Amino acid sequence: MKLFRSVLVMLLSVVACFAADVTGNWVAENPSSDGYVRKTYFDLKQEGSQITGHVRTGQFYYPNCTSTGTEEHFTLTCTMQDGNNERHVVYEGKLVGDELHMSTRRRPDAPLTEVIAHRAPEGEGAMPARIPPPALHKVPYNGLAKTPPMGWNSWNKFAGRIDDATVRSIADAMVSSGMKDAGYAFINIDDTWEGDRDAQGNIQTNKKFPDMKALADYVHGKGLKIGIYSSPGPNTCAGYEGSYGHEEQDAKTYAAWGIDYLKYDWCGARNIYKDDEMQAVYQKMGDALQASGRPIVYSLCQYGRQEVWEWGPDVGGNLWRTTGDIRDSWDSMSKIGFNQDELAPYAAPGHWNDPDMLEIGNGGMTDTEYRTHMSLWSMLAAPLIAGNDLRSMSPAIHDILTNKEVIAIDQDSEGHQAKRVSKNGDQEIWSRPLAGGATAVALFNRATTDAPITVKWSDLGLKSAPKKVRDLWSHSDVKVSKADYTATVTGHGVVLLRLSQK
Ligand code: GLA
Repeated sequence: MKLFRSVLVMLLSVVACFAADVTGNWVAENPSSDGYVRKTYFDLKQEGSQITGHVRTGQFYYPNCTSTGTEEHFTLTCTMQDGNNERHVVYEGKLVGDELHMSTRRRPDAPLTEVIAHRAPEGEGAMPARIPPPALHKVPYNGLAKTPPMGWNSWNKFAGRIDDATVRSIADAMVSSGMKDAGYAFINIDDTWEGDRDAQGNIQTNKKFPDMKALADYVHGKGLKIGIYSSPGPNTCAGYEGSYGHEEQDAKTYAAWGIDYLKYDWCGARNIYKDDEMQAVYQKMGDALQASGRPIVYSLCQYGRQEVWEWGPDVGGNLWRTTGDIRDSWDSMSKIGFNQDELAPYAAPGHWNDPDMLEIGNGGMTDTEYRTHMSLWSMLAAPLIAGNDLRSMSPAIHDILTNKEVIAIDQDSEGHQAKRVSKNGDQEIWSRPLAGGATAVALFNRATTDAPITVKWSDLGLKSAPKKVRDLWSHSDVKVSKADYTATVTGHGVVLLRLSQK
């Protein structure tokens, strides 16, 4: 087979030499240390000074390319449709002997980087044929995530640098730091664990994860649960193997490994399906997980497109991302967090809005801002998925993540997501009802300087002053007046209160 392939490539090269243009299929290989080889395919056709074709690179497939110039130097512009947006990539290319040298920028302001492509057999790397999405039906509730999931995920801190040893040591730290006792249960491996498929189509791990079943056993042995990541597309966001066309098979593999949680990320599916097909595509994996015979929490990650909160529960989803990716900055966190007000009606036990994972402890915000992050996510009944290095937390970060009184707000059994009560410039008051008739109230100061914030009991719909008002960050009861309570709130800070009549 290998010999046949080499002969074929040689023949193609000879033909191409005579043609001396860029017509044909080309592949550039970029091996990574985990054993996974990222490939970029250029399938091109040259007619005089016109080069057309398509490019497949990582999670992206650009079906339409046009050019200016000739094989000696050309500029190739390729476009794709992504929901309502058009994406494009521009390559500067030249034919050098039997190599195609292609340079592009990762971002418009980044320097050019060059890849060298070689001739590949026709059809290699082609996008797989479209599998029509299934007809819609209701996937029954799996009975999981009665309160917002709590755990840890590898992406925000480690991205592609996550491996078996790190996951094990994070699981150790989850227990030794007291995070487990505070309620954090899941150790979730995000993108970049995937390898190729075997001859039967079974997904395999790459070199960083030698034995996923053994890793799951290890995590379970600590009294924790383990999660994994995939995409409904042929490729994940980081360009690794996705579950497209292998949904049932992958769900069974996850079940056999002992996986308890799946984050399913749209990314490469954009090349095959339209946005209005998302529900059916997510339903397919929802069905597959239920058919796997193992209870697996189902986390939808499609950046809040297509009003996912309206159909998330119908596809068996336990949580769904409501936004694009969070970054470790006040700007990103606060823009996302304070923008969730209208989604409150969609949160309920078993089904949660997910404004993305926590950045607490990753270094881009102050401790005050991280306290606001924790408070806001808890008010929103958001999943509390830590994203920092649990092995090296400062005492302050540890205390923020394990504040049991704040976590109790997030985990309240009634699962009501907070709503904004008032907004006065940069000062906002949010509240949520809690089980047993109590109320959580957050006084947020989005300004950079300290400011007094007054909450009136009548604004919360209370007929009289609450008997007990507890400050959940100072861990003390506070004295309030008959009509209201005023606190001075630090810039970018919060005062979080629990009001009760007992
Ligand atoms: C997307 C998701 C992130 C992360 C990466 C992994 O950007 O939104 O949370 O999973 O993909 O590639």
